Amino acid sequence: MPATVLVGMQWGDEGKAKVLDALADETDIVVRYQGGANAGHTVVVGKERYAFHLVPSGILRDNKVCVIANGCVVDPIELVKEINELRTRGVKIDSTNLQLSDRAQLVMPYHRLVDQLSEKKKETSGAGKIGTTGRGIGPAYVDKVARSGIRVIDVLRPSYLVDRVRQRLTELNPVLIAVYGHEPLDANKIADEVLAAAQPLKAFIADTAAFINDALAHGRRLLFEGAQGSLLDIDHGTYPYVTSSNATAGGAATGSGVSPKRIDTALGVAKAYTTRVGAGPFPTELKDAQGDAIRERGGEFGTTTGRPRRCGWFDAVGVSYAAEVSGVDAIALTKLDVLTGEKELQLCTRYKVEGRELTRFPADIHAVELAQPVYESMPGWKESLEEIRQYEKLPKAARDYVERIEKLVGIPVRYIGVGKSRDALIEKK
Ligand code: IMP
Repeated sequence: MPATVLVGMQWGDEGKAKVLDALADETDIVVRYQGGANAGHTVVVGKERYAFHLVPSGILRDNKVCVIANGCVVDPIELVKEINELRTRGVKIDSTNLQLSDRAQLVMPYHRLVDQLSEKKKETSGAGKIGTTGRGIGPAYVDKVARSGIRVIDVLRPSYLVDRVRQRLTELNPVLIAVYGHEPLDANKIADEVLAAAQPLKAFIADTAAFINDALAHGRRLLFEGAQGSLLDIDHGTYPYVTSSNATAGGAATGSGVSPKRIDTALGVAKAYTTRVGAGPFPTELKDAQGDAIRERGGEFGTTTGRPRRCGWFDAVGVSYAAEVSGVDAIALTKLDVLTGEKELQLCTRYKVEGRELTRFPADIHAVELAQPVYESMPGWKESLEEIRQYEKLPKAARDYVERIEKLVGIPVRYIGVGKSRDALIEKK
């Protein structure tokens, strides 16, 4: 696997960090290619629990280089905080194992402010909020596309950065005052704050596309780490209830400056059930005690925001769509152990929408909202899976469940997550 991309196949929180951690031995370089500190990854090593937002979790392993590539949006204040927190817990982070793309966009304090004000406004105006993480991700990507963004490299030219902030605020301040009733922002103050925060990041700034392409030319093994999930992708997800970047495999090419021809494998990560955090349609959602029980057992509370995640059954329509869009070769099915104790499991095989049966995920957000899942029932199992490390040792009902998912999605399951600990992962040969 010279270059593999790891993508989430649902609405994020599929357990990508754990799979990534397991693949770390076969990897030299881990690349984050989209999103920002909206992401939350948790890795449990022994009794220690590490939370990651922007730094790839590969940083926990020796001799790996982690890259935050150009497709990401970087909040310098948050990134420095995250690096410092990891350092105080003994994780080594320096310019030999972390690189930050000079072309990545900065999340500015006003992006975070606008994200939060806009969500509040949508809530009070009845427009329906997205339920963003409030980390300024959407507004930062808006500025990138509107060509009003500020890039990491601009930190190295402070006078240019100040000018860019001033230009941006010339347009933004009247909006803040008129639309949100907020006081205008001071360009110098903001520029000073960002430049000061970014000081410690200077050591990490690099032309990461050049680094990655050189590495590939030298036969080094790369893993592209997708954040969020395919159904939150700006193009392919449940728009407008999506994040603002391409979480699918294609994002790895544009988001890191690597030809799509160089990425040979796509590994999709899907939970054995489904979760969603924030607003938006979720056809297999369980709004009852069973959903609550899965949330409790699965510890389904956001790493970034602490919000309870909505829980529901596995949706083969959504996962098959994600597999198609990213060309997924194999699936890592995570958190199978969380389903232990359920008498009967439901797998959604298609949707019923206004009298029609759909096996393909619809573009029409109203159709996704109206979708009635058509379920296939399977018997559950009672045995604990946490100590099992061989596929054949899983209870028959658990194997049947995995194999039915393989059939429905049409893609083999290669890994199965059976517990919280780092090694609680079965490789299915
Ligand atoms: P934003 O990315 O903060 O703009 O939020 C947009 C949508 O994506 C919201 O529904 C968030 O809850 C969701 N989202 C963003 N990042 C993650 C993540 O890492 N896991 C799960 N959902 C996420």
